[in-house]
Amino acid sequence: MKLSHRLDKLPPYLFVDINRKIAEKRARGEDIISFAVGDPDMPTPQQILERLCQAAHDPANHRYPETAGLPELRQAIARWYQRRFGITLDPSKEVLPLIGSKEGIGHISFCFIDPGDIALVPDPGYPVYSMSTLLAGGEPHLMPLTEDNDFLPNLEAIPKAVTTKARLLWLNYPNNPTGAIAELDFFQKAVHFAGKHNLAICHDAPYTEVAFDGYRPPSFLQVPEAREVGIEFHSLSKTYNMTGWRIGMAVGNAQMIDALFRFKSNLDSGIPQAIQRAAIEALDGSQDCIAEHNSVYQRRRDKLVKALNSIGLRARLPKASFYIWARIPQGYTSVDFTTELLDKANVAVTPGVGYGSVGEGYIRLSLTLPDDRLEAGIGRLLDWHESRRE
Ligand SMILES: Cc1ncc(COP(=O)(O)O)c(C=O)c1O
Repeated sequence: MKLSHRLDKLPPYLFVDINRKIAEKRARGEDIISFAVGDPDMPTPQQILERLCQAAHDPANHRYPETAGLPELRQAIARWYQRRFGITLDPSKEVLPLIGSKEGIGHISFCFIDPGDIALVPDPGYPVYSMSTLLAGGEPHLMPLTEDNDFLPNLEAIPKAVTTKARLLWLNYPNNPTGAIAELDFFQKAVHFAGKHNLAICHDAPYTEVAFDGYRPPSFLQVPEAREVGIEFHSLSKTYNMTGWRIGMAVGNAQMIDALFRFKSNLDSGIPQAIQRAAIEALDGSQDCIAEHNSVYQRRRDKLVKALNSIGLRARLPKASFYIWARIPQGYTSVDFTTELLDKANVAVTPGVGYGSVGEGYIRLSLTLPDDRLEAGIGRLLDWHESRRE
C-alpha cells in the first residue's frame, strides 16, 4: 500500500505522549481532571432536542439531504445574522450550512490554494487553518499573535514577497486559544489589507456568543466592505451546546460561498435534515440559554483566573470565548509543564505550542467542565503549587 505524499505533509501529532499518559493513568483507575478540551459540558437546550426528536420521526428527514441545506435553514441563519448583528444576507447566495464549521474551514483551502500559494495564518491558532493549507499543497505563513499586540496580527509586518503569493487571510475572534477579541477597527484594517493585496478573508467566529461582563463581540461582516472580500464561519456548536450534532455555517461573499458549495457538493451530501430542523429551532427560538451558559462560564472564569494568578500562572480575564491562556513559569517548555501537571496533580491542560511555536510559554485551559470538577481541579493545582514550595 502506498499512501499519498499529501499525508506526509502533516506534522506528527504533538500530544501523542501526553495522550498516551492520560490513557494509561485512566486505565489504572486514576482520576484525571481535564481542562484540555473546548467542548461544552452543559447539554443542548431542551426545546432544540425536542425538535430534533420530532424531526427524526418524520420520514421526509430520512432521505439524502441537499448539500446546500434546507432553504428554511438558510433563511433562519440570515434572520439570526440580521437580529444579532444587523446584517442582511441573501439566503440563496450568501449563506451555506456546514457539517460543523470545521468542515468548511478545512474545505475552503482547496477552493483558494494551489501548490506554491500562501495562506496567512495566526500563530497560535486553531490548527485546521494550517493543516488544510498544507493538504491543499500550499504554505502557511504564520502571523505571530503576542500579548504586546493584544493578540492581533500585525498585517503591515507581512513581507511583500509573502503578500504577493497569499490567497487567504485567516482571522479568528473571539480567539482560540488566547481568548482575545477584535473590534471593528481591526476588521476594517484587515478588509483594506485584503483589498490592497487581492486576497480573500476567512473570519472564523464560533465564539461570538460566548462573552462576559455584558460584552458583545462584533461580526467581521459589520464592516461595510467586508462582504466584498470575505466570509465568516460560524457554528451552533458553542452557542447552543451542539458540538455533537455537527452543524455550522459560512456566510458572506457570494463567490466564495459558491466556490465552497461546488467543492463540498462533490464530497458530502449535506447535514442530516433532522439536525437542520433542530438548528432552525435553535436560531429562531428563545435565546435565553446563551445568557444562562455565559453566566456559568463567567463564574468559572473568575474562579480559575484568580487561582491561576495566585500560583504564578499569569492569565488575563478573557472578555469572550471559554479559554484561559496562561503564562507558565520560566524554565519549562509548555509540554514539560503540561506533563508535570499531569504527573503530579492529575490535571490535564493543553500546551500552548500545540497551537504554534508562538504559543510556547503558555498553556490553555478550557472552562467547559462541570463546576465541581473545576473546583476540584483548582484544588489540585493549589496543592501542587504548595507541594513545590515545601
Ligand atoms: C476556532 C475554532 N474554529 C472552529 C471550530 C470548529 O467548530 P465546529 O466544527 O464544531 O463548528 C472550533 C472548535 O473548537 C474552534 O475552536
